[in-house]
Amino acid sequence: MTTIIDGNEIGDQITDGVAACTDTLISEDVTPGLATVLMSDDGASETYVSMKQQACEEIGIEGFHHEINADEPAETLFSTIDELNGDPAVHGILVQMPVPDHVNKRDVLERIDPMKDVDGFHPENVGRLVAGNARYKPCTPHGIQKILAETGVETEGKDAVVVGRSDIVGKPMANLLIQYGTGGNATTTVCHSRTADLAEKTRNADIVIAAAGVPEMIDGSMLSEGTTVVDVGINRVDADTEKGYELVGDVEFESAKTKADAITPVPGGVGPLTIAMLMYNTAKAASLQSGIDITLP
Ligand code: GUN
Repeated sequence: MTTIIDGNEIGDQITDGVAACTDTLISEDVTPGLATVLMSDDGASETYVSMKQQACEEIGIEGFHHEINADEPAETLFSTIDELNGDPAVHGILVQMPVPDHVNKRDVLERIDPMKDVDGFHPENVGRLVAGNARYKPCTPHGIQKILAETGVETEGKDAVVVGRSDIVGKPMANLLIQYGTGGNATTTVCHSRTADLAEKTRNADIVIAAAGVPEMIDGSMLSEGTTVVDVGINRVDADTEKGYELVGDVEFESAKTKADAITPVPGGVGPLTIAMLMYNTAKAASLQSGIDITLP
């Protein structure tokens, strides 16, 4: 029997734990605050940011939201970040990616105070992660570690294949999998668009994490029996639905399910964890900045 991993259930458990941390902080007169900044007309990005704000509201984190027209100069975004860096009510700052082409992504990430960088994308935080001393683990890879742990999937000594080398998922995921300790100690291969024989790599994997952003690129023929499959893709493809599209992952679910021991669906797999771990990092940010101890889930 293949386990269909319920990301909503795992996300809810973590969110409950973060809500308890938030209560502790509030009882000490510190309300965790998360600022989201959207500089994009992309419908999917708008949806993701509003889901993040909704999660804040549900657990008592104060949400601040800023929208900047996509044709404004980069300087407008930078001065918004500067203001948020200086605002003591804001413990976490998230600039939704991607930003427009005329804005240098790396300049944006470096502008955010590393203590408020709840995405974990600032070079200081990336460096700490690689060094095995993470301050804020990037939300999606951290959520995937939680999914594997909750599903009882051991990573130690296993062959893990990460498909995709993005700064947001692929690279930090691989870095977490190779760290010492729980959720790490995996022999990790990172595959990407120039990988010579992807199917040969995925067929030899115990754990496949698909994060390339290519709809249904991995199917059952590329997997061995008993593999754990984590699908990070959320791709909008044209479909005859009310919205004119449907969401599909990077994995062709039906054929992959026949091979996998456990698999995450899209939607309802990794997505809820990304948001739960953002709440986690925001509570952690408020704790680090206030000096109030909390016990994170
Ligand atoms: N765009 C897609 N995923 C993410 C994320 O985790 N953080 C930010 N800031 N932008 C994203």
